[in-house]
Amino acid sequence: MKVTVIGTGFVGVVSAAIYASFGNEVVGLDIDENKVKLLEKGQVPFYEPGLQDLLLEQQAKGKLTFTTSYETAITGAEIIIIAVGTPSAADETADLRYIFASAKSLAPYLSDSAIVVIKSTVPPGTLEKTIAIIKETSSVNFYGASLPEFLREGSAVQDTLHPDRIVIGAESEFVFEKLEELHESLNAPVIRCKVASAQMAKYTANSYLATRITFINEIANLCEKNGADINEVIKAIGYDKRIGQHYWYPGLGYGGSCFPKDVKELAAYSRSIGEDGNLLNRVNEINKNRIYRLLEKFAEEISGFENKTVALLGLSFKPNTDDMREAPSTKIIPLLSNLGATVKSYDPMAKYSALDSDRHQQYSSIEEACEDSDVIMCVVEWPEIIGFDFSKVRNNENQFFIDARNQFDPEKIKKMGFQYLGIGKR
Ligand SMILES: NC(=O)c1ccc[n+]([C@@H]2O[C@H](COP(=O)([O-])OP(=O)(O)OC[C@H]3O[C@@H](n4cnc5c(N)ncnc54)[C@H](O)[C@@H]3O)[C@@H](O)[C@H]2O)c1
Repeated sequence: MKVTVIGTGFVGVVSAAIYASFGNEVVGLDIDENKVKLLEKGQVPFYEPGLQDLLLEQQAKGKLTFTTSYETAITGAEIIIIAVGTPSAADETADLRYIFASAKSLAPYLSDSAIVVIKSTVPPGTLEKTIAIIKETSSVNFYGASLPEFLREGSAVQDTLHPDRIVIGAESEFVFEKLEELHESLNAPVIRCKVASAQMAKYTANSYLATRITFINEIANLCEKNGADINEVIKAIGYDKRIGQHYWYPGLGYGGSCFPKDVKELAAYSRSIGEDGNLLNRVNEINKNRIYRLLEKFAEEISGFENKTVALLGLSFKPNTDDMREAPSTKIIPLLSNLGATVKSYDPMAKYSALDSDRHQQYSSIEEACEDSDVIMCVVEWPEIIGFDFSKVRNNENQFFIDARNQFDPEKIKKMGFQYLGIGKR
């Protein structure tokens, strides 16, 4: 099949490479010339395990090309997948301008019977508006569909190759069949549903996971007050099959390119349709305050950050990615700096140059970042950080170890001579 993917960001590049690996003729289209130049040379503009090899393989086979030309990419395409960004606008609704701009640009080149699919995360009503924009220019008979994406950065290739399910929102048998055919090689369960259901499923999945993180943080706050240990509480509740042991992350709150945005957008969407009191408004608020609250707690426990040197380990929003969108470090570093600390950071992949000054410098190893530190703060559970022997960087009796992701055994850290501080325990 001839497939075009519009937007060669995280989702677009991964999808394009994988659809090409199924034997389709795939074109990746972006308005960012620099990105397209890199991709044409087989270079992925971001870090994602396994993607570079997949890209090179499909380019070598001639199955995958990249362009900035709508005419080249859309002419003759049977399936056009829109995967452009949908950031939150100032009022926290989804900013759909890139979706609508791509619809306007593709319209003149659309072929008869083409399917325009929205893979980007968008609220109900968006596909109808997109179709209306295309119809202003095009008079061909085309179809619309929703195909939400559930991949996770850091394991995007594996997630796309082994999805839990494929959700297709459409109104015609022809569209369901074509999109099922596109995903046939995956052998995954396919959910055929209404367009609005597919769009709601995506927001619901992310909002649920974000709420689960917020929920356990709220419980952790209580544990800190009453002497319970959040890890023990999680173990105890996890035996209930309705609850489970998985996906409990007491810590800094949720970050990244999707959860904060999707919760905000679903909350804003709920307000826009008269559901003002929706729970997600509160989840969003709690998460926004999470890091401030935690830093206040830690400041109290270590008698303030003023004149302290903090080794901050982990900059990206989670392990195995260099994505810094809504990464906790981008809030923590300026806050620590305002509190009078000097921050020495380290990350295996991500770069944080904002605020590079005498108050923050990034180093190229854990050892260097921890040298002369008063506080070691583990912010991201990169395997290299979790597996590091911190006894090598213990340098004074009063050195604190802040385990902001509850990843370490407190007793082991204390035995090394650190004063251990975690989440949801005293
Ligand atoms: N990143 C994730 O983990 C993830 C997971 C699931 C769903 N999503 C959703 O997928 C969508 C894309 O996310 P992303 O992280 O890949 O975004 P991104 O910001 O990494 O990439 C978006 C790309 O779209 C391009 N673009 C913008 N306007 C364009 C236009 N008019 N024509 C062609 N290209 C255009 C940009 O140049 C950019 O390269 C979003 O709606 C997001 O919510 C993302």
